[in-house]
Amino acid sequence: MRILAVDQGTTSTRGILFDQDGRSQTVFSREHRQSYPQPGWVEHDPGELLDNVRACFEAAAAAGGVTAAGIANQGESCLAWDADDGTPVGPVIVWQDSRTAGDIARLKADGAEAMTLARAGLPLDPYFSASKLGWIVRNNAHAQELAASGRLRLGTTDAFFRDRLTGRFETDVATASRTSLLNLDTCQWDDELCALFGVPIDLLPKITPTSGALGTVVSGSVGTSLTASIVDQQAALYGHRCRQPGDVKITFGTGAFALTVASAERPPSQGGLLPTIAWQKAGAPPVYALDGGVYTVSAAINWARSVGLFEDFDEIAAFSGPTAAERGLYFVPALAGLACPHWDRDARGSWLGLSLDTTRQDMVRAVLEGIAFRMAEVIDAMNALQPISAPITIDGGMSANAHFAQFLTDTLARGVRVSDEPELSALGVAMQAAEAAGTAIDRPPQGRTLTPAPQSAMLREGFASARQAVQTFGAALTAQTAAS
Ligand code: G3P
Repeated sequence: MRILAVDQGTTSTRGILFDQDGRSQTVFSREHRQSYPQPGWVEHDPGELLDNVRACFEAAAAAGGVTAAGIANQGESCLAWDADDGTPVGPVIVWQDSRTAGDIARLKADGAEAMTLARAGLPLDPYFSASKLGWIVRNNAHAQELAASGRLRLGTTDAFFRDRLTGRFETDVATASRTSLLNLDTCQWDDELCALFGVPIDLLPKITPTSGALGTVVSGSVGTSLTASIVDQQAALYGHRCRQPGDVKITFGTGAFALTVASAERPPSQGGLLPTIAWQKAGAPPVYALDGGVYTVSAAINWARSVGLFEDFDEIAAFSGPTAAERGLYFVPALAGLACPHWDRDARGSWLGLSLDTTRQDMVRAVLEGIAFRMAEVIDAMNALQPISAPITIDGGMSANAHFAQFLTDTLARGVRVSDEPELSALGVAMQAAEAAGTAIDRPPQGRTLTPAPQSAMLREGFASARQAVQTFGAALTAQTAAS
């Protein structure tokens, strides 16, 4: 038994084969271009992404073929294409893109957020696909022509891949729950949400479970059954073996994404956490999750490096002496606004407590601590809605930084398992694909568990001050923006 997992992420596409014991073999890996045509705009080339996804299937066929395949896709990123020949009519607008911030602000001012929270479970934010799809419909003349002749298709990237690869215009319910167009109670597109964002409902794909018989991908003379398709963060939740309510994973990438399996059928939209669909197996009801994201993690680290706070990553793997917070120095990593639980795009990063003896090293240490404090804020908010089990399992770039992982553990005051499995989204979608194909990948989670050191009174105070700094600063900026 061999399963192909295609992980089409924000920066790269990887094709990974998994056997029954969870042993993996990467058969394709390629980064794609990131385009920033205007401040706040982030785009990908749909043809480039599709070629890379296809190359994964070709590489799997060349490696001897597979039992079944699954695709994990970047969440929220979306596009439009021609129904007749599948040609994209513009770029992929990436989840990080904030071109619709003005539209979102207007909807907020009109009081529309109560409706998006009630129906989609999501606050108004340019992050989600809805305002991006509405933007395409309003601003892309070619899309308008195609819509007028009944030939336009709108969707997230997975819907584009599935349409082109299997000939079925479909998306999965977990990806759909990231659009702000899905009614979280019925798990169907919502007429009123579509009308609010100006997205014609009949141009959207059919919604399927995240695993089951999802069609056949034909590559050369080889046909591969697609048996799973799911947004990458939810795939990683499954890959982390989070199955029970309260199991939590955090993936540290460009941003950080914390998800926990929810016990409620439809978790409430409270405390700034996002209720979302975790997965749905064919013939079974959906499993819900709560999601809490921090926009900038490796983005903040890379920024710190770009402004000269450090040169080599070894410099930020270990520090000695009291923490920056214990010395009264804090950094709020709101470099692209504040996501969960504040949802304030206008917030910006800030330093507090700089003094004449502050060094570069102190500053970068405060950047790492600021990320951990933000994550702790998210986990606290999550725990208030869904009691969390221990240990929390983490993966991704910053989880490999020993200093950061221990500081995070101390700040969370909970056990943390640092996974040393590098491809958890791929593993998660492969596990779902295997199960839907009537088999299973059986491998216990791998990694080391960290225990929290007792928090010093100074660290507790530091955490409280950091939280205060985030809230005061965010509120001050919101007030300033509202007044201007
Ligand atoms: O919500 C965006 C998320 O799906 C992106 O994940 O791994 O592609 O950066 P990743």
